[in-house]
Amino acid sequence: MDDQGALPPHVLIFPLPFQGPVNSTLKLAELLSLSGLHITFLLTDFIHTRLVRHTNINSRLETYPGFRLESISDGLPEDHPRSGERFMEMLDSMRAVTKPLLKEYILASGRPVTCIIADGILGFTCDVANEIGIPIFYCRTLSACCLWVLFCLPKLIEAGVLPFKGDDLDAPITSVPGMEGLLRRRDLPAFCRSGDLSNPNIQLFKTEIQELPRAHGLILNTIEDLEGPVLSYIRAHCPNLYTIGPLHAQLKSKLSGTTTPSSTSSSNSIWKEDRSCITWLDSQPSKSVIYISFGSLAVITKDQQIEFWRGVVCSGTRFLWVIRPDSIVGGDWESNIPTELSLATKERGYIVGWAPQEEVLAHAAIGGFLTHSGWNSTLESLMERVPMICWPYFLDQHVNSRFVGEVWKLGLDMKDKCDRDTVEKMVKDLMEARKDDFIRVTNEMGELARKSMGEGGSSYYNLDRLIKDIELMNA
Ligand code: UDX
Repeated sequence: MDDQGALPPHVLIFPLPFQGPVNSTLKLAELLSLSGLHITFLLTDFIHTRLVRHTNINSRLETYPGFRLESISDGLPEDHPRSGERFMEMLDSMRAVTKPLLKEYILASGRPVTCIIADGILGFTCDVANEIGIPIFYCRTLSACCLWVLFCLPKLIEAGVLPFKGDDLDAPITSVPGMEGLLRRRDLPAFCRSGDLSNPNIQLFKTEIQELPRAHGLILNTIEDLEGPVLSYIRAHCPNLYTIGPLHAQLKSKLSGTTTPSSTSSSNSIWKEDRSCITWLDSQPSKSVIYISFGSLAVITKDQQIEFWRGVVCSGTRFLWVIRPDSIVGGDWESNIPTELSLATKERGYIVGWAPQEEVLAHAAIGGFLTHSGWNSTLESLMERVPMICWPYFLDQHVNSRFVGEVWKLGLDMKDKCDRDTVEKMVKDLMEARKDDFIRVTNEMGELARKSMGEGGSSYYNLDRLIKDIELMNA
């Protein structure tokens, strides 16, 4: 209760039901709760079940007053894969089933809902907020640089840039303001290569420029000084913009500075983390290990896996590799592994199905990160000053990898390559030949991120502004 005796604002938060977006949005929810807001965090049943099974989330969230973790159906059969490739089916089902359930849930909620925070790709949440008459903030958990490219899709189509004519992926893209001379065709989101404008992803993402300004404000898990130039273009369409990232680091610093009891791990993993990799890292020399993970949605073929494996083994570098249970096409990847790869892995590698990634990236033994350039992974690596080799798979990852390699200089862009020689060379460059260059730049960028979160920093200020704006809605 605040001093007038009124209840604190009650925010209902509804993330995009995938590991990446849930991870960052749950960190936002915890940050808002630490500031005294009451939170209802609404997951889909599929994600909720896995989160509760594989983490101590229930006991962790009990320490937050007025925090409720609830779930709602996405309308899909239990055995639906809910993969990135079948996202459109998920979205159609959520529009048909989850939308009415969400409205019902809010109207029946014991606590009046002050406002909603929802993922901006779920436009039906804005419809529900408007029907009920409560404000909504959109959040988007991808990078601002990719979001701006998505805003420009209608313009790219109008200018005839999409669909691509011919197969030259190095042809420059000149009609994205602020990115002239930077983007090539290959750096656009992978769905732009489809050649078919009726591609559902193009149809969906090109609505961002109309959809996002519908909300009261737009929350981005990014840093003003990191993506500044692009943010000014986005602000022209969404003036009420809150850049409050990196959320995972903001939460860690707020928890370390508070008396709020919290568990050692604030994991939000929907797979069981194999913590034995931390023990293995403890016995490795400083900055000697490259960490390999392609996030929660990317899938690779067994041939691609062997090429990566051969390249890393031939580089002579120690490696910690996350091979997510469902990430190799065809499933059974452990049969018929070449003997030399098995022997080398026994000697200087370690493989797990899912790792405590934030802890891994913070570990002294880690010297590099072979990543798919998902936005959470990119921010986590930047925060821990770990240089990256980027091998994007889809969505925002192609744009992110171009910025990591060419703009922020935080690593190497290995886009569209997957041969053992390229992998070997890039690992050697990152971990040896160019190590000092990357250490210098990653230290600078890590410091920039740290400053943004401290008092007087942009992320600190914008998070505080968001909280105050929500409190004003409750007045
Ligand atoms: C998805 C999209 O793919 C990504 O492009 C977009 O930016 C966010 O939504 P995902 O593919 O899962 O995300 O990648 P990423 O954004 O990096 O999020 C993965 C999360 O899982 C990270 O927070 C990472 O710390 C965590 N993780 C990953 C683990 O905890 N353990 C692992 O073994 C691997």
